[in-house]
Amino acid sequence: MTERSAQSDSERRVREAFGAQAVYCDQLGSPFTAVLCRTLGAGLDRSSAIEADILAWRGDPGPHADSVPLRVAGALHYLVRAGRAGALAALYPPHAMPDPARLRAAARRLLREQTAFVREFVRHPPQTNEVGRSAAIIAGWLEIAARTRRPLQLFELGASAGLNLIAERYAYQFGAVSWLAGRDARVAPHGEPAAVTLKCGWKGASPALQAPLSVRSRRGCDRHPLNVADPAQRERLMAYVWADQTERLARLEAAIMTLCADPITVERADAADWIESVLPSSAEPGVTRVVFHSVFWSYLDRTSQERIAGCLAGVGAAASRDAPLAWLRLELGEKDEPALLRLTLWPGGADELLARVHPHGAWIRWER
Ligand SMILES: C[S@@+](CC[C@H](N)C(=O)[O-])C[C@H]1O[C@@H](n2cnc3c(N)ncnc32)[C@H](O)[C@@H]1O
Repeated sequence: MTERSAQSDSERRVREAFGAQAVYCDQLGSPFTAVLCRTLGAGLDRSSAIEADILAWRGDPGPHADSVPLRVAGALHYLVRAGRAGALAALYPPHAMPDPARLRAAARRLLREQTAFVREFVRHPPQTNEVGRSAAIIAGWLEIAARTRRPLQLFELGASAGLNLIAERYAYQFGAVSWLAGRDARVAPHGEPAAVTLKCGWKGASPALQAPLSVRSRRGCDRHPLNVADPAQRERLMAYVWADQTERLARLEAAIMTLCADPITVERADAADWIESVLPSSAEPGVTRVVFHSVFWSYLDRTSQERIAGCLAGVGAAASRDAPLAWLRLELGEKDEPALLRLTLWPGGADELLARVHPHGAWIRWER
């Protein structure tokens, strides 16, 4: 392939990636980011160094790989939130949907003006921590608590900032019913009002709201843990949320405050190494161990998946009614399908589908 044809090949793939991302943004309720992606996908050109860099992306720029459009959208949103976006800020939410050509011109100008910042920002893969998934995770914890009637010892793989590892500190509205640490109160377990109420549509049998949920201990790991006490890391996390999804932004901010009020440390580790080192020696009589993860599995290679599944099966084989083991996972389904919440509980070890779930937790269809 000549240099010129390699260049036009990468340019075509980057433009396609913006187009594909726009479709996802439309499907997931971000019309603004959809417009931004479409207009940039069509309108970036090589007249500036930063645009030329983006168009010459090495590797797969698509939504299931390097997610170049999300890197660029994240950089722009970061600058808007930081008050460094000049004229572009007036075209961003909460202002009305802008004319795409004006949006494109202002975004390209900002990319040029902030070349050094953007170049550094887009080097890093987008990293999110979707608090909305806590609604499905807590429903899973309640189900496990209802069945095993023991306090939970939690282990989260791919915990990011750890915002879903504190799921029982939030309040929930599941369709018409509400839940707050198992009590019908507006007070969180540590005596303060829960700052976050997660609302999600609910179909099917009610979650196990009366289950005796209590968290004995919690640990999480991530390859790149985020520390939300650090303003730069916190802002980066906020920037990857799409700018017109104001409810998601508000609940992320509130969840960050909840975590900062009583912080936890997510350990920096590869998940397969970590679970092999912490799980086998973790059994405690009278306690249910829960290994859980959300939107994490597809990031692993086959060997790591097999190591984690093998470790759970081995430890599960030695589990008892007095020291059970649960593997709870919320992972994306095929293509446009919802995410699936699955549970394997030892002793026994049968794999069950608990629920189908919107990827950001907007609704849950309970399947039990
Ligand atoms: C899409 S994010 C999901 C984060 C969080 N579970 C959630 O639902 O919001 C995937 C996370 O998995 C982490 N991750 C990917 N591969 C990993 C590995 N081998 N070991 C540990 N963490 C990993 C990433 O760093 C990232 O934080």
